[in-house]
Amino acid sequence: MRDRLNFYVFQRCKGLSGMNWESDCSDALKQRVERIALSLDADLRQAFDLTGGWRDAERTDRLANDALQRALDQLSATGCWGEANRLPSSTLWRIAGGWLETGSLQRRARTKPRGYAGDFEMLAQISANRVCDHPLGAAFDRFFQAQAAPQAVRNRTTLVAEAIAGFVQRRAAGPVHIVSVGSGPALDLQAACQRLTPPHRQRLQMTLLDLDPAALDYAGSQLAPLVAANQIRLVRENLFRLAQSARSREFLDGADVIVCSGLFDYLDAAAAAAMLSRFWQALCPGGEAWVFNFAPYNPSRAYMEWIGNWYLIYRTDQQMADLAAQAGIQHPQFQIAAEPSGVNLYWHVARAETT
Ligand SMILES: C[S@@+](CC[C@H](N)C(=O)[O-])C[C@H]1O[C@@H](n2cnc3c(N)ncnc32)[C@H](O)[C@@H]1O
Repeated sequence: MRDRLNFYVFQRCKGLSGMNWESDCSDALKQRVERIALSLDADLRQAFDLTGGWRDAERTDRLANDALQRALDQLSATGCWGEANRLPSSTLWRIAGGWLETGSLQRRARTKPRGYAGDFEMLAQISANRVCDHPLGAAFDRFFQAQAAPQAVRNRTTLVAEAIAGFVQRRAAGPVHIVSVGSGPALDLQAACQRLTPPHRQRLQMTLLDLDPAALDYAGSQLAPLVAANQIRLVRENLFRLAQSARSREFLDGADVIVCSGLFDYLDAAAAAAMLSRFWQALCPGGEAWVFNFAPYNPSRAYMEWIGNWYLIYRTDQQMADLAAQAGIQHPQFQIAAEPSGVNLYWHVARAETT
């Protein structure tokens, strides 16, 4: 009976967004999430006592990790994925939120102080593998930092930095125009600059596009010690209109390198194909682009969705290949590859010197 009920809940919840969860998703799921949240709360109360009020850091780490992982396993087993778990996750936070919010990263993901998850402050913290001071919060932050998705983000930052540095070193001379679309803190560009000698660095012309002015300010401040002010152009722009906007010619056309990470995960297929096509048209002969999208087998999906209401549009490598074809990019002008963990896929697009 229970299995049939779970199957029913799964059928009702999977992939449906914007539905009336209260009526459609059944009280059974709500009660199930309530039980999971109460168990998490009880586990953490017990952990508090067993660790002398979080004084035993090692035990705090282990008990917090076990409690949260157990809850996530049970939440995954509900089969309620995507926007459909937005409302049930509020039950989880109502009951266990007092504990959960001590973790600085999961609190930031949940509350989205800049209006979206994955803002520049979070990315800087992920990149530095930093945790907060609160003993339970630090345990939760370590749990977050150990997830596959943040590791994939660190990997892609390194991958882009090495790709850009390699591109500049292969080009014998002349300026290299790099455009970062949805640059955020531009830690990848910063790391690329750090890999280059001063003469190579002086050839860079960097355009950073982002909607968040604070992210652009932060990126500019990180790059300022590495390159001259006239090598950096910070552009505040709503990129969801980029493919259609005439202004995009000014920022994109003639790019030698285009990098875009953490943006296509929010674009539907039509917008993704349009933007990919725009990148393709904008690249100079010999130019290359690296454009990222998370794969559906993201092992951090339950954590991101149930704890952070952090929903991505996942794509398989086949779906990405289809989008490239839709964008007018043919093999071997593009390849689909992945950063070392395999969780964050990317299009590597290369325009031949002669086209
Ligand atoms: C997850 S971050 C990725 C930042 C950076 N590319 C990286 O990988 O570290 C996504 C960035 O896209 C920006 N962004 C999101 N929606 C946008 C939009 N409609 N227009 C411009 N920028 C946007 C955000 O402000 C944020 O800085």
